[in-house]
Amino acid sequence: MKEEKLKDLASLFEAVLRTSKKLEDSYNQLKRKFEVLEGKLERNRRYLENILKSIDSGVCAVSLDGLITTFNRKACLVFGVKEEEVKGKHFGEIFAIDELKHANARRIVEFFKGGRKIEFELGGERRILDISASLVVEEEKESGAVVVFSDITQVEKLKEESAKREKLAIIGQMAASIAHDIKNPLASIELLVPLLDDGTKREIVDNILVSIKRINNIINNTLLFTRTVSYTPEKIFSHELAKEIKLEIFTQIKDLEYVENIEQFEFVSDRNLLKSTLVNIISNALDAAKSRVVFRAFKREKVVFEVVDDGEGIEDVNKIFEPFFTKKKNGTGLGLAIVKEAVDIINGRVEVETSSRGTLFRIIL
Ligand SMILES: Nc1ncnc2c1ncn2[C@@H]1O[C@H](COP(=O)(O)OP(=O)(O)O)[C@@H](O)[C@H]1O
Ligand SMILES: [Mg+2]
Repeated sequence: MKEEKLKDLASLFEAVLRTSKKLEDSYNQLKRKFEVLEGKLERNRRYLENILKSIDSGVCAVSLDGLITTFNRKACLVFGVKEEEVKGKHFGEIFAIDELKHANARRIVEFFKGGRKIEFELGGERRILDISASLVVEEEKESGAVVVFSDITQVEKLKEESAKREKLAIIGQMAASIAHDIKNPLASIELLVPLLDDGTKREIVDNILVSIKRINNIINNTLLFTRTVSYTPEKIFSHELAKEIKLEIFTQIKDLEYVENIEQFEFVSDRNLLKSTLVNIISNALDAAKSRVVFRAFKREKVVFEVVDDGEGIEDVNKIFEPFFTKKKNGTGLGLAIVKEAVDIINGRVEVETSSRGTLFRIIL
């Protein structure tokens, strides 16, 4: 009997042992599974992180009450901040959108519904962001929002520029055809006017001729601007060129001092293009000068022309070559745009040095 019991006990013990072994196996299996899963999770997390990092859009996640929880690399780049600096701050504060101060996730998503283009002043530069947002829903409950944006400043700039260009092209075509139409009758007038002089009308005739010269100059500028001219090189003498230029600007000199400092040399270029360039620059200098404009020409390794005035200098020096940029009441803003085109055609270079004491324009051929 005792032996029986012992046997029973032994088999019971064996059963317990077997079960506990099974249990251990299951536990180990579970542990392995868990480790695999954890690895997967970690990989997923890193994968997501990498996507957020390398994505070319700014991504900003916010909590239900609009506090920033994620700010990806691109977002940091656009705003010039580090993620640690903005984490926990309110979305409306970082994006500087007054209407979204203290807004919650839902309100933020509503605000950007359908995508919105918003202009920002970031680091002293105008930037345009295209922003959209959506709610994050976890297990059927809203847990926050994710705001995605791309920096479309460059694209918008290009769009604006191409619209401007299109407009310019149309204006250009119109101007070119008008200029061509005026040119011929004007040439006839120029030939006929001197015949009016019976010995007593010399002054009037001269005045008309000067005006015709100015109209001609405007027409040439227009044709030049619309690129309906080509490069025609010829031999030019510096002194002759200076004389021709003075003829065109002398009515503008008035009580200013116009100093010519012209070395004698000859060179090859397009006379009309170069003349238009220098006339435009000198004309601006005469507009700006307080008392004096100096026109210098010399030839070292290259041919150089310099125009110096004692005006107040130029504030927006990076804009002055843009067509239609002018600060004058009756300005066209085309003078320096023409200079840029012309200098380009004659393979030259323009340099500008400006300060509150005056401005120097240099043309290098
Ligand atoms: N020498 C200069 N000194 C100061 N400002 C200048 C000078 N030259 C050009 N500018 C500025 O550049 C602008 C553009 O010049 P321009 O293209 O010739 O057009 P416009 O003379 O019709 O204004 C001027 O309105 C002026 O503000
Ligand atoms: Mg001008």
